[in-house]
Amino acid sequence: MTRRDILKDPTIGNKAEAYEAFDDIPTNPNLTRTIGDVINARYGRRDVLRGMLGVSATTALFGTAAAIAPNKAAAAAVASRYVFDELAWGNDETHHVAEGYDAQVLLRWGDPITANAPDFDVMNQTAAAQLQQFGYNNDYVGFVPLNEDGSRGLLCVNHEYTNEEVMFPGLGRQDKADFAGMTPELIDIEMAAHGGSVVEIARDADGVWQVVRDGELNRRITPLNTAMTLDGPAAGHARLQTNDDPAGVNVIGTLNNCAGGLTPWGTWLMAEENFHGYFWTDKLDAEGKPDITGAAEEKSWDRYGVPGMWYAWGKHHARFNVDAEPNMPNKFGWVVEVDPKDPGAIPVKHTALGRFRHEGAETTVSTEGKLVVYMGDDNRFDYQYKYVSADSVSDDRAANSALLSDGTLYVARFEEDGIINWLPLVHGTGPLTAENGFNDQGDVLIDTRLAADLLGATPMDRPEDAQPRGDGTAYIMLTNNNKRKQGDTNAANPRADSNFGHIIEIKEDGGDHAATSGTWSILVKCGDPAIADVGAQWNPETSENGWFGSPDNAAMDADGRLWISTDQGSKWGKTGKSDGLYALETEGAARGTSKLFFRCPVGGEMCGPYFTDDGETLFVAVQHPGTDGTKELAGFERESTFEDPATRWPDFDDNMPPRPAVVVITKQGGGKIAV
Ligand code: FEO
Ligand code: CA
Repeated sequence: MTRRDILKDPTIGNKAEAYEAFDDIPTNPNLTRTIGDVINARYGRRDVLRGMLGVSATTALFGTAAAIAPNKAAAAAVASRYVFDELAWGNDETHHVAEGYDAQVLLRWGDPITANAPDFDVMNQTAAAQLQQFGYNNDYVGFVPLNEDGSRGLLCVNHEYTNEEVMFPGLGRQDKADFAGMTPELIDIEMAAHGGSVVEIARDADGVWQVVRDGELNRRITPLNTAMTLDGPAAGHARLQTNDDPAGVNVIGTLNNCAGGLTPWGTWLMAEENFHGYFWTDKLDAEGKPDITGAAEEKSWDRYGVPGMWYAWGKHHARFNVDAEPNMPNKFGWVVEVDPKDPGAIPVKHTALGRFRHEGAETTVSTEGKLVVYMGDDNRFDYQYKYVSADSVSDDRAANSALLSDGTLYVARFEEDGIINWLPLVHGTGPLTAENGFNDQGDVLIDTRLAADLLGATPMDRPEDAQPRGDGTAYIMLTNNNKRKQGDTNAANPRADSNFGHIIEIKEDGGDHAATSGTWSILVKCGDPAIADVGAQWNPETSENGWFGSPDNAAMDADGRLWISTDQGSKWGKTGKSDGLYALETEGAARGTSKLFFRCPVGGEMCGPYFTDDGETLFVAVQHPGTDGTKELAGFERESTFEDPATRWPDFDDNMPPRPAVVVITKQGGGKIAV
């Protein structure tokens, strides 16, 4: 299936399904490198070893990891530390949280967030109103405290994309070949609903979180009108120069902001994921497909999927039409830094962190104080990256932001013997030379994927969020990959036709996140453990409620344990379970034990999650409620539209469609969430 075929496929109804279908088109031409050389090599040997030692698989795996890279948490490990009563899996119209907790809807699409914002009027929405209201499809959530006890702070929320058929009355499903119903007015509303929101929240006298509607730092960041700059080695590059910016250092807006992160100094990193989908062309071939033959950026566009034509923005805004602005796609696909405490500060796209379909950007600090950012490129057969700053984190906030401008970007090669090597993407090193099309470091960063191809990075099963822990450990969510066939598996991606994904644990050498090598192992192969070929390495304590598929975002609780949110997309029917949030043990005898904590309303994707520093508040985000997989599900059996959604969560008002929303979770009677 080609990009154009997807646009014309009537069975692909909503944006989430289109996203999935596009992700099914691997653009990495570099797959043959691993064919046949590593099939099951590592796990075959290791399983034999376990058998010979006569110990349980779990203990053996833990013991192996500990022997390679000892860590303190391991020594103190005890059996299952989670005592909360697990939630039962299932599907219905609303959200559920484990018993003993409160889950309150805090912010919904359209909620006014500035003092002058109009109330949400879904039948008469305007772009001007949307620019002062909470955006659509909330994904990353971070919290920046404004006072000492953390009872006031700024919620930083990404708004990844829009589902026009559920947002707009009377619109219905659009023919993705022309988006005939998408007027300039609707397109501007869509654009204003993308990006991010900074919203002050505070706990009231009863300990309940409330939105501070007139918070002076509240603001929206959008692709419609937020000015940004580009810095780092690619800034000013000829390939970033456009008609409205001959210097190549400015850009309007950010889009498809998926996961993200906060820096140690309290700025917010917004990852730009599926940027390619927002670019349009009027040049079509005889079959109606985008014709990029002979374009100056042809090789790059081919590797990145530009122009994707998922949205009609380019029909009305020339900057999103590559015929008019062929360099504009090069200004997207970066990590954007925003200072939530300073509305006057212009967001910066840091080119040093590379250009790809950035899923997230979680940070940590190395043993020598360097800033380290873990980042996945969410496409089938694409790569895992990390960035290490040249200088160290200090108390000087302004100096800290320069850490994102000068450093080294690495891509991961997972060797079959359990070693991970981080390969530097540095111009002039190895094949990254003019001979191979890289004239300078700007070219290496603009075409990060092409550079990583030449270095021989390991093609992965869609790297989503990556979550570091302070002890030199990092967890990589590989969500699924049903295009990997027998014969092109590798040790780190060992399953063909993986519908459920897996989680890799990395232990950096010396417990140092800046190390250029370490070890890796698979923590869990997701899916039903009752099916031998599917779910594997789950701890036997994991119940039928606790196993999951398609790990996506992740968070670490105050005790260093992993919490996983799922996004099954079209794989939703493979587990039969609604997306949710799961607490997953990583250490000791309980390693591989997972418990269901929160469940989405039907068709929703679980995003966030984020724990406050005291561990007493957990934010989660429900994206696109009522859309994914509902047409196959008994009791729902329909593709949602504004008029006929599978759920009207969270308002359950006949005049209101389902609304993406952030939910705040606290423990009844107070105390830490993660117990
Ligand atoms: Fe936006 Fe890869 O999820
Ligand atoms: Ca995600």
